[in-house]
Amino acid sequence: MSLTRREFLAVPAALAAGSMLPAGLFAAVVSETPAMPDLSDWGKVRAQFVLDPAYSHFASFFISSHPAPVRDAIEAYRRAIDRNPFLTVEQAMFEDVEHNLPIKVATEIADYLGGRAQDVCLTRSTTESLALVYHGLPLKPGDEVLCTTHDHYSHHESIRLATARAGATMRKVPLFEDAAQATTESIIARLRQAIGPKTKAIGLTWVHSSSGIRLPVREITAALRASGEPPLIILDGVHGLGSVDETVATMGVDFFCAGTHKWMLGPRGTALVWANAQRWAQLRPTIPNFTDMESYEAWMADREPATPNNAARMAPGGFHAFEHQWGAAAAFRMHRQMGKAKVAARIRSLNDQLKEGLAKNPKVRMHTPRSGDLSAGLVAFEVDGLKPNEVVQQLLARNIIASTSPYAITYARLAPSLVNTPEEVDKAVKAVREISG
Ligand SMILES: Cc1ncc(COP(=O)(O)O)c(C=O)c1O
Repeated sequence: MSLTRREFLAVPAALAAGSMLPAGLFAAVVSETPAMPDLSDWGKVRAQFVLDPAYSHFASFFISSHPAPVRDAIEAYRRAIDRNPFLTVEQAMFEDVEHNLPIKVATEIADYLGGRAQDVCLTRSTTESLALVYHGLPLKPGDEVLCTTHDHYSHHESIRLATARAGATMRKVPLFEDAAQATTESIIARLRQAIGPKTKAIGLTWVHSSSGIRLPVREITAALRASGEPPLIILDGVHGLGSVDETVATMGVDFFCAGTHKWMLGPRGTALVWANAQRWAQLRPTIPNFTDMESYEAWMADREPATPNNAARMAPGGFHAFEHQWGAAAAFRMHRQMGKAKVAARIRSLNDQLKEGLAKNPKVRMHTPRSGDLSAGLVAFEVDGLKPNEVVQQLLARNIIASTSPYAITYARLAPSLVNTPEEVDKAVKAVREISG
């Protein structure tokens, strides 16, 4: 993040101390926020959610139920804003670095991603992140953006709208015919073959919500770099962030876009883009920001910003549901306390269990690779003789919440996550057996 207004204006410390803000406003927020609970076993983690106990929730990746630490953080910030809207928002957004909450949130996120706070751009959804990146690319007529047939609506539409505006084109290629049979080598070979002389950027999805496959992103980026400087790689990482043990900042992608309101368990309406300083400098902002001092000073002086573009300049400005944006830090703290590796291992073991159970059912066809190395928290499948929405309806009748994939080719999905237990997974396997006859 760049300078705050106070820092830029170099307010002397004595004056800063005499800020309009009542002393202790943020101290009150801290004192009203309970300490991070004990999360040392999965029962204690599950207890942080107020999910309806009448159901087994296997679609939590769709949108998060806020766990207690996130609810508490949101509530403490909401109370502070309701008590003192102007003073709270003014200080949190525009005054000293110590109290600047977007910087605090970006710092927590950067710690999790393995990057720098100033390279984290706060947004409100994966959709918004993707749109900002693609619309920010310096595309020209004749340029092409390559993506895959497997990406989400939000991703394809971001590319379609951005390329149409620039007079550029988009092209979608399949990375496999059957996700369950795909291999790292076959995926890399398909992608390599698809890159053409006009390709300026490649859009990929880490964990596909269509089939549940997890692309071997590290291997892909390393292979593409091994044969020269590849086009910019833009990753929709929403179903990997918070479910996979990875260091995002070193995966080799140029722009990483993800909501934090799915697997990260963050406040609904929170998301991010990560890129390094060199990549941020290549983009053009679309929406005026409230976080980059140089943008504001340039506007005041009626000139263009004089410094290279950066993450803070890309963050959509305007006033938002700040209690949600600021509360996102609690989700990252919660993940740090649970441990990235432990979270990933738990999700993997529940998904392995589910796949093993479904594989014994001859009426089930799974589309997700069996190996946890090429999958994460989603299992996509079909049941002989039933449409995917019929599978979901029949599971719902047994109090099991599943979902269908919102793609032209649709499957039923079960997504075991931190809110589930091995017993619930067994129950889901049994229920699928019952409905498959
Ligand atoms: C792969 C993928 N990308 C993007 C999105 C949209 O996410 P958001 O709601 O954060 O915009 C979804 C929705 O679930 C998704 O599955």
